[in-house]
Amino acid sequence: MTQSRKLFIKTYGCQMNVYDSERMAEALGGNGYDEVGSPEEADMILLNTCHIRERAAEKIYSELGRYKELKQAKPDLKIGVAGCVAQAEGAEIMRRQPMVDLVVGPQSYHRLPEMEARAGGREKVIDTDFPEEDKFAHLAARPKAKRGPTAFLTVQEGCDKFCAFCVVPYTRGAEVSRPVERILTEARDLVDRGVRELTLLGQNVNAYHGQGPDGRDWTLARLIRRLAEIDGLARIRFTTSHPNDMSDDLIAAHGDCDKLMPYLHLPVQSGSDRILKRMNRSHTRDSYLRLIERIRNARPDILLSGDFIVGFPEETDNDFHDTLRLIEEVGYGQAYSFKYSTRPGTPAAERAQVEEAVKDARLQELQALITRQQRAAQDAMVGREVGVLVERPGRMPGQVTGKSDHLHAVHMTADLNPGALVRVRIESSGTNSLAGVLV
Ligand code: SAH
Ligand code: SF4
Ligand code: F3S
Repeated sequence: MTQSRKLFIKTYGCQMNVYDSERMAEALGGNGYDEVGSPEEADMILLNTCHIRERAAEKIYSELGRYKELKQAKPDLKIGVAGCVAQAEGAEIMRRQPMVDLVVGPQSYHRLPEMEARAGGREKVIDTDFPEEDKFAHLAARPKAKRGPTAFLTVQEGCDKFCAFCVVPYTRGAEVSRPVERILTEARDLVDRGVRELTLLGQNVNAYHGQGPDGRDWTLARLIRRLAEIDGLARIRFTTSHPNDMSDDLIAAHGDCDKLMPYLHLPVQSGSDRILKRMNRSHTRDSYLRLIERIRNARPDILLSGDFIVGFPEETDNDFHDTLRLIEEVGYGQAYSFKYSTRPGTPAAERAQVEEAVKDARLQELQALITRQQRAAQDAMVGREVGVLVERPGRMPGQVTGKSDHLHAVHMTADLNPGALVRVRIESSGTNSLAGVLV
């Protein structure tokens, strides 16, 4: 019998890290660990980290600093660093924070139980390999606990695109797709345990090309259509997509697959061809706009979301205005925007940098525009009838809250359990959510 111990995991970064944290918790379950909600009660602390921007990476060191007293009070406490900072900085983490016992990269999680058993005291353990084997195949099967109504499922990982600003191809490695059968097994298991909505994850999820049961490579569209046959699974989403991999069959699926939700995150990063070229994005402003038009022809009410970087090296006022004009032309329902952050080892780090004050001003202007569009898209839902998947009780007594097909948060007064899928008429639009009544 393994003794029972307590594990605290803190997750940073993208949804893939959220998924990975779940899988790591399960893997460590085999070593006798149960998850807890605070570092104070833990026998092991694991930080699952993000390296995408400088601030994200630096946060890890300040977080580790806060654990110093805990470690002094409880010398057996094990501290581990996983994820993309672990991959990028490796042994350097232990040099900067000697109390770290274990460093594990995102492709080595299946070795975590064995690493955990060895780590502690004087023993430091580090693994940042990119092994050949499929890490997911080696992870313990998910325990049969009941799940909430929504779940992430990683279908593809890594990236071969090498955008000039981005660390992901270095931290996550080359693009790899999981075989169809494995994904179906995991999806069915999740649905059996209460999941009604799956979000398929990949750094370039629409480049998915996993081996199908027929021995051939399947596209993401084909995988989605197969998943849609699972009884009890009501909704499918996927993220994040690259404009160059938005194939005809995937666009068609948005038009005719009922379970595929009318929401698409399709980052463009910039509206200036000059900057797109320097970013190594391999699409143009025009090719992106034409793509959006085809997607909207297939699914007119689709809500688009995007990512934008302001202050990329050599970005001029003109380039920035091209980005604003592109945003106006597309009309996003939602968008994320970031100041360019210099990442060591990426090509753009060597180029002429834009002043911080200029980046700040551009970010503010861009975000003001996005906020207006977001609000307009949300307000346009008032009076419409939408599908809502109930996720949890609301803040007010008698209220429940969930997400609409278009991924808006919706509150309503109703006696419903999480997992209920209902039709709701939207009556009002607030700062970040809609309110409605059951139809
Ligand atoms: N694979 C996805 C997302 C990658 S990271 C994609 O290709 O779209 C998520 C977002 O972070 C990116 O879309 C980009 O907008 C932003 N990002 C990546 N590197 C960055 C950097 N060095 N500085 C600022 N933002 C960055
Ligand atoms: Fe990074 Fe570009 Fe790959 Fe996205 S497509 S993960 S932004 S390199
Ligand atoms: Fe961050 Fe790694 Fe995701 S760098 S955004 S956690 S892939």
